[in-house]
Amino acid sequence: MSFSKLFRRKPTSTIIQQGGDGEEHSGLHKVLTVRDLTFFGIAAIIGGGTFSAIGNACFSGGPGVVILYVICAIACGFTAMCYAEFASRVPVSGSAYTYAYVSFGELFAWIIGWALIMEYSIGNIYIAFSWSGYFTNLLESFHLHLPEWLTINYQSAWDAVEAGKGDEGIAAWKNAPVIGGLRIIFDLPAVVINLLITYLVYRGTKESKNFSNAMVVIKLVIIALVIVVGAMYVDIDNWTPFMPNGFSGVMGGVSAVFFAYIGFDAVSTLAEESKNPQRDLPKGMIYSLVVCTVLYIILALVLTGMVSYTALGVSDPLAEIFALKGVKWMLFIVSVAAVVAMTSVMLVFQLGQPRIWMTMSRDGLMPKKFSEIHPKYKTPGFATIITGLVVGLPIFFTDENFVLDFTSIGTLFAFVLVCGGVLLMSPQSEAEMAERKANGKFRIPYINSKFIYPAILVFSAGLIQYLFPTFFTGVFSFTEENVVANCSMIVFLILCVVMAVLAFVKNLSLIPLLGLVSCCYLLTGMAPSNWKWFGLWLVIGLVFYFFYGYKKSRLAN
Ligand code: ALA
Repeated sequence: MSFSKLFRRKPTSTIIQQGGDGEEHSGLHKVLTVRDLTFFGIAAIIGGGTFSAIGNACFSGGPGVVILYVICAIACGFTAMCYAEFASRVPVSGSAYTYAYVSFGELFAWIIGWALIMEYSIGNIYIAFSWSGYFTNLLESFHLHLPEWLTINYQSAWDAVEAGKGDEGIAAWKNAPVIGGLRIIFDLPAVVINLLITYLVYRGTKESKNFSNAMVVIKLVIIALVIVVGAMYVDIDNWTPFMPNGFSGVMGGVSAVFFAYIGFDAVSTLAEESKNPQRDLPKGMIYSLVVCTVLYIILALVLTGMVSYTALGVSDPLAEIFALKGVKWMLFIVSVAAVVAMTSVMLVFQLGQPRIWMTMSRDGLMPKKFSEIHPKYKTPGFATIITGLVVGLPIFFTDENFVLDFTSIGTLFAFVLVCGGVLLMSPQSEAEMAERKANGKFRIPYINSKFIYPAILVFSAGLIQYLFPTFFTGVFSFTEENVVANCSMIVFLILCVVMAVLAFVKNLSLIPLLGLVSCCYLLTGMAPSNWKWFGLWLVIGLVFYFFYGYKKSRLAN
């Protein structure tokens, strides 16, 4: 094995000539405009994070969770600009995977592609569970009641029995039929929605896209309605205390809040269908992120203002607040909107995953079958079915929290690599920059971080010391519970200092640098078990690469 081969790069020029992913294309229609791309971004962003995970984030952090929404928006904003820079330089589909292939080389491309499975497939498991929660609400409003053992996953029912709390889980455990000594408990609606989405995506993407546009309008209108109606019930006393569980309580919601922002990057998979990808993709990503950030901050304020944050630790918080206030008509509307919103997110991701695999397969890093196109429906049929299985099977044996954390850690990791990729990319010449400017193509503004970044670092350290005088000493006093959290914070602090030195020496570009550091900061909020599982996942991926992709890569010959 040759070390240098691990970093062999896919030549950009070939990719562009070949129409995207190293293969002749049937010629996708270039029809999408900025508006379509922004809609697509919103379709991918507003889903389970907004309708479901926001509840636990508020429960953990109290009203102060809005700070976390701002921090995540900043991290995602910088990352979106890095994606945009890549999208402008490499206007092809394939998401961060392709970008990494042209900048970092094959090994990192593989790692990103592997991490993206968490964003695109594992994330959909969480959304399927959340979808089920709201769908069950809807059925209830028509007086249709599914037995508990068909609306909860096995792990959650078991946890409820162990903890002795959680009526639904306990009832499911008690009433479940037993076959061969095994209790039959699974989330039926989650299984069914996954089957339906897989079928829809398998049959063809055209229908799916029209469907998705209509859903975006519905969800924006309903969220606006939740905000307007909810605002009438806000009692500002609920905003005090602002951080009832301290800043660590706020950071406890990091997976949930970050999850709500995931999706803007999916816009980059539409490069080949955009009229002017180099100009419009960046705009689509950034506009959709801005719209969602504004909505999220207002929504979090309304939610925590309407009721005490302690009432929000449920899986359907947007319905719960109106149930608690006795606004029955909103309950129904919110449940319909949630079902619609989450269906559209699932569609986007379940469309995206097979296409990423298709690209990887064409590069030789995945088996050939993954790029096979269905003769009749013209979709990557095999890869679509495998995606359906990767989402569907774990529904039977995982729970919401696990998949939420897993998705967030994997996606954050991919974002760190994307920001790092932009930092590493060779600067373009004056002439190239002028050409990009003249043609309205996006350019990440170059701001020399030499002095600015170290200054930001010193200012932030001073501010933290002023606001939380025990922070720095606390990081170095270990207990059994905080050892992992403290270690990850120490690694982060070391990284900040190393990057300051590099910024000074190498005149790094400020925006990707801030993107990298802010995403790394969010990673410090991940629990020890997340790191363990994520590490295992990476090891499995690397084994697969060394035994398969390394040898079969198209660049191998
Ligand atoms: N941001 C997407 C959602 O919240 C993944 O469902």
